[in-house]
Amino acid sequence: MIWNPFTRKPRGFLGIDIGTSSVKVVELAGVKKGGIALGTYGELKAYGYLKRLSDPIQGSSLQMLDSEVAEMIKRILDECNAKSSAASMSIPVFSSFFTLLELPSMSDKELANAIPFQARQLVPIPISEVVLDWEIIGRFNPRADSPNAQERLLVLLVAVPREVVDKYVRVAKLAGVELRGLEVETFSMVRALLRDNEDTNLLLDIGARSTNITIVDGGAIRMSHNLDISGNEFTRALAHSLGVNMKRAEEHKITSGILQKGGELESSRALIPLIDAIMQDAEKIMNIYYRKYGHKVVRIMLGGGSTNLPGLVEYLSSRFGKEVVVGDPFHGIVFPNILEPIIRDIGPAFSVSVGLALRELVPQKTFAK
Ligand SMILES: Nc1ncnc2c1ncn2[C@@H]1O[C@H](COP(=O)(O)OP(=O)(O)OP(=O)(O)O)[C@@H](O)[C@H]1O
Ligand SMILES: [Mg+2]
Repeated sequence: MIWNPFTRKPRGFLGIDIGTSSVKVVELAGVKKGGIALGTYGELKAYGYLKRLSDPIQGSSLQMLDSEVAEMIKRILDECNAKSSAASMSIPVFSSFFTLLELPSMSDKELANAIPFQARQLVPIPISEVVLDWEIIGRFNPRADSPNAQERLLVLLVAVPREVVDKYVRVAKLAGVELRGLEVETFSMVRALLRDNEDTNLLLDIGARSTNITIVDGGAIRMSHNLDISGNEFTRALAHSLGVNMKRAEEHKITSGILQKGGELESSRALIPLIDAIMQDAEKIMNIYYRKYGHKVVRIMLGGGSTNLPGLVEYLSSRFGKEVVVGDPFHGIVFPNILEPIIRDIGPAFSVSVGLALRELVPQKTFAK
């Protein structure tokens, strides 16, 4: 946890993921011969986390005070001996709005003028109160048989309330880090887990408060959906069904999961309906995407701390009948062999923070050229 290969120069980048259950930090740096090395990493669970699990109005990282979050970041950076101060931070999916637009082909400048007009009709908050970002993720000809038909653009539009952006800027300042980038967490996770993957993937980020379901095709986000069934809900269901407190239920979840054998049956019975509810939403999204674009999902990629739920991978692969892979955000990153078992264990939960730290270290992907 406190390993640090940089003896002198702080030339790395920090990825800071403020999740609902914890703050996670990863420091990465470019090394000679073009590789990327792990500088350090650290995690701090939100104070009183298990007590808060049972409190329905808690649950969003945004409800913590700026100064509290900044203190947590400072403490992690200090404890893990981070040397860099340039940082990227992520915004949760539940604080953002994603949509896909089809527009006639136009220049980047024309697009910048057109987007706010389009957004006004689609974004449920007044346009003056949101920050807009967009990316051309595809170009297509609606009538491939007609050479004169106008090419169209597929644009991914992301809107984030201005107050959310302002909050992160304030937190970064209070934590003493130089904020280099702010992005919705799905972009970070895609960069960490799927940046070199050209297939149609379903990315499932099962965290503490929410599960994000995303279709990633050719490395680009195509559809995104968010639901409130996730790790906290699993623990709550177990506590209820076993008649134990949240702390005991959390321990039970981590050891028994949904293994479906012997003494674990009770735990599975409580959790499987919740996993099935996530799967139903995932199936709906895959079907909508297939009907619209004719691409079938070939693989389910898992990220987020709840990915480690015992029995989850086996259950998902048998029910979906697809390849199910636990995401490894540290693939291709150099770190000492001795860390291997820990890195394998923490990997899924650190996907967002690794993706953030990679932001300035890997080339930006360009789409549909
Ligand atoms: N071995 C395990 N088995 C089952 N669940 C686990 C295990 N390890 C961690 N978790 C669960 O993972 C969740 C935390 O995951 P993660 O760190 O991705 O969440 P987060 O980023 O803080 O939350 P969110 O993304 O929803 O804001 C907790 O609910 C925790 O109980
Ligand atoms: Mg998270």
